[in-house]
Amino acid sequence: MSSDLLHIHEFIRHLLSATANAALYGMLHPQVIRLSALAYTTVTTMFESRKELTLLVVENNLVIDGHPQTLSLFLERFTRILKSRDIGIIKLLSGVTKNEIDILIGVLAHKLSDTALTDAGSESIHIGTIDLVVTGQGGLESGGEKGNRVSLHEMPQQELLLFSGLHVSMTTTRKIKIKTVFELVSRFVRLLREDSTAVLAMATQNDATEVTFTHSGKVCVLNLAQAMALDIDGPLLLDIGVASLMHDIGKLSVPEEILTKTVPLTSEEVAHMQQHPVTGARLLLDTPDAPRLAAVVAYEHHLNYNLSGYPAVPPEWQQNICSHMTKISDFFDALCMPQGERKPLSFPEVCKIMQSRKGIELHPSLTDNFLKVISVVSKTTH
Ligand SMILES: [Fe+2]
Ligand SMILES: [Fe+2]
Repeated sequence: MSSDLLHIHEFIRHLLSATANAALYGMLHPQVIRLSALAYTTVTTMFESRKELTLLVVENNLVIDGHPQTLSLFLERFTRILKSRDIGIIKLLSGVTKNEIDILIGVLAHKLSDTALTDAGSESIHIGTIDLVVTGQGGLESGGEKGNRVSLHEMPQQELLLFSGLHVSMTTTRKIKIKTVFELVSRFVRLLREDSTAVLAMATQNDATEVTFTHSGKVCVLNLAQAMALDIDGPLLLDIGVASLMHDIGKLSVPEEILTKTVPLTSEEVAHMQQHPVTGARLLLDTPDAPRLAAVVAYEHHLNYNLSGYPAVPPEWQQNICSHMTKISDFFDALCMPQGERKPLSFPEVCKIMQSRKGIELHPSLTDNFLKVISVVSKTTH
């Protein structure tokens, strides 16, 4: 076991002991105070070599940063506690304070409410559920109290948790949790209706990392905004959101070393990478309740407007409008992010390049629509 993982296990062990003691004797018991201090010391050491830690419950397993753990006795107990508290994910960020660790222990020990961390304005620990209930006739709402209207202030954090949990869960199980995907998309739609400028600002930032907003999340928001500007609404809007969020799902089959390689790929690696549209479409076709549109978009999203790109298609091929939108958002995000040696381009530079690629890679009128949609953000934040 690596020393990093040893620290994580040690942290969980202290957290578990503190929680068990707090449940029995209360938060102010000397044993709880001692164990909480130990948990804090361990977590501080752990964050010397990492920026964040994600603990996720997938069925009865504990997944640490995407890696399912062999459950020892204490990990099994910890997982059971999380499940009993309806917690699917805990995300800790570096900079976590002793007070935040104390509150987490209180929440896990049933001594504080589920919202205690949010109420205390915690910035470095976020907890959330993964499997949200989907109800309603035709519409998608999350269940129970969690379905209440959420303010913009707390929304990004909630959906980021949902998003990262979903991502880790799919990476681990290779299965798509389609209900959760729909839930996330309906949250994005709600957010865009509340304050599209704020959400678009988040989706167009070029200093984004995994911590802030992942590529698929950005493409999803950008596609939804494009579709909403075209007055698309109802089930089709949700299907577009789901298709956008899942467009790169085939990358689950591409080895991590290839995905994260910073030097040019070999021809075999390129061939492997270029399989992801087909693999993704197959996976989505095999997923009950996934919209057919999602498989189509996964298949077509690396096709250019002039039908070059991949996979190869016959000249009479008719691309779906959502595939064109995805191509545009994908293209935009690629330019905004640093690539190898190249620094991220500025907003005006990106727009200029996109204008020049109309009719080649990009659908002309949809690109105009896109540039109009994001111009709101360029005026305020870029
Ligand atoms: Fe892709
Ligand atoms: Fe993509």
